[in-house]
Order: sequence, then structure tokens, then C-alpha cells
Amino acid sequence: MTDVSRQGLQPGDERPILTNRQGHPVHDNQNQRTIGARGPATLENYQFLEKISHFDRERIPERVVHARGITAYGYFEAYGTWGEEPISRYTRAKLFQEPGKRTDVAVRFSTVIGGRDSAETARDPRGFAVKFYTEDGNWDLVGNDLAVFFIRDAIKFPDVIHALKPDPVTFRQEPNRIFDFMSQTPESMHMLVNLFSPRGIPADYRHMQGFGVNTYKWVNQEGRTHLVKYHWMPKQGVRSMTEEDAAAVQARELGHATRDLQEAINRGDYPEWELLVQIMSDAEHPELGFDPLDDTKVWPENQFPPLPVGRLVLNRNVSNFFAESEQISFGTGVLVDGLDFSDDKMLVGRTFSYSDTQRYRVGPNYLQLPVNQAKNAQVRTNQRDGLMTYFVDAAGENPHVNYEPSITGGLREAPRPLHEEQGPVITGRLTRKRIPLTNDYEQAGQRYLLMEQWERDDLVGNFITNLSQCDRPIQERMVWHLLMCEDELGLRVGEGLGITPEDVKDLPPLPTQTLSDAERERMANLG
Ligand code: HEM
Repeated sequence: MTDVSRQGLQPGDERPILTNRQGHPVHDNQNQRTIGARGPATLENYQFLEKISHFDRERIPERVVHARGITAYGYFEAYGTWGEEPISRYTRAKLFQEPGKRTDVAVRFSTVIGGRDSAETARDPRGFAVKFYTEDGNWDLVGNDLAVFFIRDAIKFPDVIHALKPDPVTFRQEPNRIFDFMSQTPESMHMLVNLFSPRGIPADYRHMQGFGVNTYKWVNQEGRTHLVKYHWMPKQGVRSMTEEDAAAVQARELGHATRDLQEAINRGDYPEWELLVQIMSDAEHPELGFDPLDDTKVWPENQFPPLPVGRLVLNRNVSNFFAESEQISFGTGVLVDGLDFSDDKMLVGRTFSYSDTQRYRVGPNYLQLPVNQAKNAQVRTNQRDGLMTYFVDAAGENPHVNYEPSITGGLREAPRPLHEEQGPVITGRLTRKRIPLTNDYEQAGQRYLLMEQWERDDLVGNFITNLSQCDRPIQERMVWHLLMCEDELGLRVGEGLGITPEDVKDLPPLPTQTLSDAERERMANLG
């Protein structure tokens, strides 16, 4: 008797028929082709070999950092002003100009250090990456939730990440390795004071802030430039978790933040953030006491008030995790007219790294994937072919001309902007040097003093728990740094570790450090 259910012929069953990737119907998805019911199998078994060999290739390399994350879609709506003034005085970027103008966005939130399936309760910075699909092409704003970073020169990035990732022998994340590196990296103190405070574990993605972190520029019609920093403020409020809260959540599930975001969007409770911008004249600013191109610093809000320029609403979840979250690709080089880079030494390094890793991780034609395409602008290039080419983007009048210049058709250059030259003139010698104004401790100390009592207690406790797993010289150097930041912080952490200011006061500055006069004075009076 014929088994009708095997053939999908059950009366009333309207479901679509399974096929292979050549469009051939699959009549039996349960049994390979074999000689007799007990085998052996045959090699011409195309359907089976296709199925297994595709499965064998289902994974791409996970991101080297920010591997765990989730994407959602929505829109950005511009306010059209910067404070009282029209925004056009500062930037000509089209997406900001008209009040109420909406631009499609994709946002990916992430943790940094853990792998693709790791816990979302980790004490770890969070990524906040926004892709704006503007009419002038895509703009990516790739930031984090803590406003600053561990280092200020991109050449140190592989080292800081190696220290934070699991040990290459034991594959355990080790406080001793982390603080070994950080204790030799005084610019990391500001980030550490944030990361080991309750802010280091956001309650979820909907209740966290975002920051561009690096300094960018805005360019207006006249070619005038300003330095800018970006801030995302959640309308839902900011919430964090203590270690105990996080342990309780992690005991139940690893992906609570992804679930929280997706459930909120599914029930129509669309999360919203306001975009605020700080602005500064495009100059060196020695009067500030810190370098505005240093991503270990924030700009004081009383001097540079963050002004709202628009809002972001997320109202749609991905329909496929792999296509839209795993393959989405952001980069700091992805800017539109009216926005520009600054000379921030991290930013330039990042700008190379993102598209470089994406050519490896996703493939050379990653920009042809729907989630990465500049879907609201026309793309026409002479970049051709390569692995997984999906279409040809040329729209010139002569398809034979895949080069430029040509008098026989093909693509032409866009008209030059009115003001090609912009920003200050820079002269200097080729060199390898730290920035002159490092000021590594002041803002870290101020941050501690701004904390409520319970936050200070939590920070001190977290430092003690982690540092007590470190070698004594690492502990001593960290206490020295923390005393340089703020007496109370250094004294309390030292007390928890059994280290007094007396024990560390004779430590010399690190060989890589040049202390300011104020810092030398502080060092002379440690504790
Ligand atoms: C992801 C490099 C600093 C935020 C990544 C990735 C790389 C990378 C290679 C993986 C990208 C991918 O596979 O698609 C670097 C380098 C840095 C740096 C070399 C310093 C020189 C920073 C800083 C921030 C940041 C300072 C925060 C402001 C992010 C975010 C992602 C990411 C949010 C995830 C993007 C996504 O969701 O796909 N970074 N990074 N990175 N980075 Fe950085």
C-alpha cells in the first residue's frame, strides 16, 4: 500500500512542498538512498549530500568581539534644531535637517567579550550600533553604553581584548590577566571605575544609554567643522544590576536582554531613545585639561550641554537571526555628507578594522546583503565580482564600461562639494608619541565622587573581589592608581586587600607615564 502521508498528499494538507536548493521536490526526507534497506549508501545521493554539506557550512566565524547580540529595526526622527538654532548651522547632513523627517534604522545591541551564546548578564561594556539608511547612503554610529573606553590608541586594541578574553591555555577569563594589563594602562582607570560599578551590568538593552564614545565632526554648508560627541538616552530610564541580581537572572536564562527587547517590540511597547549631541569648536583646547580627541574622557556637561537633535524608535524584530543579526555589519568609516572623522587615534584604527573583519567574517560582498545595503540610496560602483556576487550594481549607459574615466559611457564622478577643504590646518613630524595631555585620573576620581553611596560600595566590593584573585604586585599597582584617582576609592580598595598607602607610596610612575605637575603633587601625598 502507498504511504500517502510520506508524499504530502494527506487530504486537506495545503502546506507548501519541500524542495532542495535546485527546486527539485523532496519525496523522502527521512531515508538516504541505499542498496537495500540496510545499506550500503550510494555517492550519487545528491539530495543527501547537498543537505549535509550545506549544514556543514551553516556557521560563519563569530565576531571577534561583540559576538553576542541582537538586531531590531525602527526609525530615527529629526528635530531639525540644535538647541535654539537650526541644525544647518552645524551640519549639512540631510537626515538632521527637517523637523519630523524619518530615516530607517537597524540597531544591534551586544555584549563584548563572551561568545555568540554567552550570558547577557556579564559585567562587560554593551555595544550600541545604529545603522541609518539615509538618502545619501548609510551612516553607522557604532558606540557603547559607558561613554568612554579602556585605551586611546588603536594599536593597543588586540592587547586589551586578549587580556579581557579567556586565557589562551585554560580558556578561563582571569582577573589576574585583566588587571595585569589594566594596571600597566593608566588610561583605563576611567573605564574601570564605570565597568566595576553597577553600570557595568545594564538591566537589559532597553534601559541602557548609548554613546558614540569617539569624537567625530559635523560639517556645515560653508565647510565649517565642529567636534561632536553623540549620546543616546533611553526614554524607558536607566537601570542596572548588581552582581547578585545578575546571578539570579543568569541562573534562569542566558539571553534575558534579547528576550526583553523582542517581547517589548512584539507587544507594541516600542523602546525609544533621544539622541543628544555635545559640540565643541574644532581646535586643540589646551584650556580644558584633557584632550577632546581622547576617548577615555567625557566632555563636562556644564561646559558642553548635550542638546537633543532627534529620537530613535524600535518597532520591528528581525525575521531571521542569522541574516539580519549575524550578518549585519557596522563600521566607523560609514559616514554621510555633513559628518566626518576627527583625528582621534582610536577612531582611525577602528575605521580600518571593521570593514577588514567583515570581508573575512561575512565575505567580500557583504555590502550586497539586504541588511547591509544602502537601501535608500542608489549604489553604482565599478567594484565587480568576487565570492558570492549577487547582482551587478552598475547603472551606467554602457554595461561594457566597468572603469572610470571613459568617454564611452559608464559612471561619472559626483559634482565636487562647494567647500572641499575643511577643518584646521595641521602640521607636524611623523612620530610615535602619546598625546601630551593624558590626565588619566581626574575624571575617574570625579566619576567616583558623583556616585551614590550604594554605587560606591558596589564598585569597591567588585574591585576587591576581582583584585583579590590577582598577584600582589598587580594589586599594589592598582591601589596606587586608585589612590591617584581619589583617596577614598584607593583607601577602601586597599583596605579590602590589606594594602596601605604606605605600602605603595614609593612605587615610581610607570615607564610609559608622564605625570603632570598636579599628578606629581598628588603622588607625593598619596593617601
Ligand atoms: C565590533 C574592532 C573599539 C564598539 C567590533 C568588531 C571589531 C572591532 C573587529 C567586530 C565587527 C564585526 O565582526 O562585524 C575594534 C577596534 C577598536 C574598537 C580595532 C579600537 C581600535 C571600539 C569602541 C567601541 C566599539 C571604542 C565603542 C565605542 C563596537 C561595537 C561592535 C564592535 C558596538 C559591534 C557591532 C555590531 O553590533 O555588529 N569592533 N573596536 N569598538 N565594536 Fe569595536
